[in-house]
Amino acid sequence: MQVLWFRCDVIIPSLSLGVLVVSLLIGSFFFWHEIQHEPDTERNCNMAEAAQSNWERYRAEGHQAFILGYTGEVGKELIKELAAAKLFKKVVLIGRRQVDLDTTVGPEFEQKVVDFEKLEEHSDVFEGLDTGFCALGTTRGKSGVKGFVRVDHDYVLISAEIAKARGCKHFSLVSSQGANKNSSMLYTRTKGQVEEALKVMHFDRISIYRPGVLMCDRTEDRPGEKVARVLLKPISYLFPTAITTPTEIVAKALVNNVVAPSERTQELYENKAIHQLSGTSKACGTQSNQESSKSK
Ligand SMILES: NC(=O)c1ccc[n+]([C@@H]2O[C@H](COP(=O)([O-])OP(=O)(O)OC[C@H]3O[C@@H](n4cnc5c(N)ncnc54)[C@H](OP(=O)(O)O)[C@@H]3O)[C@@H](O)[C@H]2O)c1
Repeated sequence: MQVLWFRCDVIIPSLSLGVLVVSLLIGSFFFWHEIQHEPDTERNCNMAEAAQSNWERYRAEGHQAFILGYTGEVGKELIKELAAAKLFKKVVLIGRRQVDLDTTVGPEFEQKVVDFEKLEEHSDVFEGLDTGFCALGTTRGKSGVKGFVRVDHDYVLISAEIAKARGCKHFSLVSSQGANKNSSMLYTRTKGQVEEALKVMHFDRISIYRPGVLMCDRTEDRPGEKVARVLLKPISYLFPTAITTPTEIVAKALVNNVVAPSERTQELYENKAIHQLSGTSKACGTQSNQESSKSK
């Protein structure tokens, strides 16, 4: 049969073959990422498994924390995890606006609205908070190049400096997969530069997380990311640790790590390691946290 200038008996098999080859290539790419070895698998899995047994000791130590970026997707999940675990005597939520918090959030959480352009004037909000979580960030599309660098680089580092001066000992940063100070891409270069600058601030402990594409029902309308997430949903299902991370997994990893004693002053968790640390990775042979919290 011939439609216009196409011969269907030729074009349909060729197209099918093309689609099959492309699918196989894409599948192999993600499969290859999925089976990559994570050198710290045993350590990450052990930390995840021991997490809940560390809670009591950690609570008794009387830590106080702050969260930057708490109104964002990772931040919101982190609040949920911390509200359930009740690990901190006090959690100060530092942001540029006040939001309604979930009713499950306890009285140990308090919001502080600050002007990030004059953060030094608000430095007292960091006073005595020994543990910091930072999930601040914007996009180039939303804030332009200058705005992106201002938030993802300057605000992060200024906050970290003030926090350290006010007593922060353990700083956790949600950075990004591919972060590299020498990258030619603005996003990954900025993330890499922030990581490098944080490392030389000499916190007692610095934990850097490099998640892949964050999977979540984002409140903010980002059409490009929405399309990517739809396309990546099957990939995330088939190859969960290859290049995606649900935001709740990042939050679980942040919490499991913070309660664990560490022999390292600097920790770097790539995407696969984040899954392991969260206690949900099949590589650990256990769904420890999820399972045990369900059975409680
Ligand atoms: N999207 C991804 O797939 C992906 C992948 C890997 C890593 N990451 C990184 O992971 C981190 C957390 O991501 P996310 O998706 O949870 O971020 P998000 O939902 O965009 O939230 C970002 C947070 O930063 C705050 N923020 C943004 N611009 C600000 C400004 N000008 N002044 C003060 N606060 C500002 C937001 O406050 P408001 O609510 O007030 O705006 C919000 O609390 C980010 O650093 C991001 O770059 C993202």
